[in-house]
Amino acid sequence: MFTSLPQFVSHLKDQGKLLVVEREVDPRFELNAVIRKIQAGPNLPVLFERVGGSRFPVLSNTLGNYSIVSGLLGVEIGRAAARWSELTRPDQRDTDQHFPPESSAWEEISLLDLPQIVYCEKDAGPYITAGVVIAKDPDNEVVNLSYHRMQIIGGNELRGRLSTSGDLYRIHQRAEARGEGLPVAIAIGMAPALMLAAGTTVGPDRTEYDLAARIAGKRLPLVPSPRLGVPVPAATEILLEGVILAGERRPEGPFGEWMDYYVPITNNHVFDIQHVYARKGAMYYSISAGSVEEQVMLALPMAGTIYTNVRTWVPSILDVSCFPYMQYCVLQIRKQFEGQAQKAILTAFGAELNHVLFCVVVDEDVNIHDWYDILWAMGTRCRPDRGIFQIPGVPSFMRDPHQIHWGRLGIDATKPLAHAVDFERKRTPGIEEVRWQDYVRPKRSVAAQ
Ligand SMILES: Cc1cc2nc3c(=O)[nH]c(=O)nc-3n(C[C@H](O)[C@H](O)[C@H](O)COP(=O)(O)O)c2cc1C
Repeated sequence: MFTSLPQFVSHLKDQGKLLVVEREVDPRFELNAVIRKIQAGPNLPVLFERVGGSRFPVLSNTLGNYSIVSGLLGVEIGRAAARWSELTRPDQRDTDQHFPPESSAWEEISLLDLPQIVYCEKDAGPYITAGVVIAKDPDNEVVNLSYHRMQIIGGNELRGRLSTSGDLYRIHQRAEARGEGLPVAIAIGMAPALMLAAGTTVGPDRTEYDLAARIAGKRLPLVPSPRLGVPVPAATEILLEGVILAGERRPEGPFGEWMDYYVPITNNHVFDIQHVYARKGAMYYSISAGSVEEQVMLALPMAGTIYTNVRTWVPSILDVSCFPYMQYCVLQIRKQFEGQAQKAILTAFGAELNHVLFCVVVDEDVNIHDWYDILWAMGTRCRPDRGIFQIPGVPSFMRDPHQIHWGRLGIDATKPLAHAVDFERKRTPGIEEVRWQDYVRPKRSVAAQ
């Protein structure tokens, strides 16, 4: 398993899964436009070797492909949710909190040496989108990791949003109550296990470092950050140190966010950045907000949580997907009795109250990682007058001024057990092995001959 980002990148290169952009790209719009086009095409990781105004190459989309990410968990795509559920089981033995005294070779740079990437037309300016904020909870010494988008204001200042439901918000509040700022490190570019773990909530008593160790299959070395002593991964590409100020909120935004809308200007937390370091030959990392990369990073932990909960009530659950939009959840079950799909739906909604609005249940012969297949199941196995039920009046996430994300809709697209024989999917024997390329020759036009 990979202990650093460069190690993962060389693996991707060896596998022919890394796209390299050699020509210089403009960090204002062009870089994001290329990322989006690649995601809509081959959807592979991409390395921009030359980005205008900065000496750092920029890496993106290493976690935007569900199959590559499933591979990081050591499973096929159809087992990813179940594997995530296993990895986050609370009864797992956690690694200890000992930090080996490894030295990490960083050189000091300034905030403006970093690529100043502007993503969307109405964004307020350049943003850091792959910054993982690392902070120690003063109450129990547990180290928390979470992503927070940050607007680069200039000088030493960043501004960013800390969701009120997150651990970092709570930790910062504790420091603020004492009239103190919260010392933090911000890591940009880490081993993929750490980048995945940082996008999930493991609760106040556990650290994402332990989850990363489980994903990687071994502990990833940590070191104290150079000035503030925050435990950070030794193999971090770019590291910032600073303080989230107490009692200070300043306007941040607008920014084109995960739902592909602009979040308006709001008063948000202020990061006073005191030191910026780069590893020798460091890569910068960019996550295009709301793109498949962010969706995979958020959908996988959600699917794992839902799998864990649904399994309690519907043990014949096989797989869960919340990709490509977290408002949807698709459950694959081996149905044992009528009404089981409805039980599964209710549990899924209860397991994830912030995002999932629509839940579809399908049988084991439907590929839940292919929306054509899901729509086929809905079209051929769901009776709209009986198979759909609505739950009114339940809000989802808090930033919903127009109350659009209220209510839930469940869709039972499983076949009726009493008539299962009439719902057998037709199949052509041997089709899985057939490659159409082995059967045709390119036909040249007469003129070309
Ligand atoms: C790419 C990316 C960007 C994110 N940006 C933010 C953000 O700006 N603010 C925020 O509160 N959460 C953001 N999140 C979500 C948090 O990182 C995520 O919910 C995390 O699990 C919270 O962890 P915590 O509860 O341990 O603090 C983002 C997640 C990803 C993957």
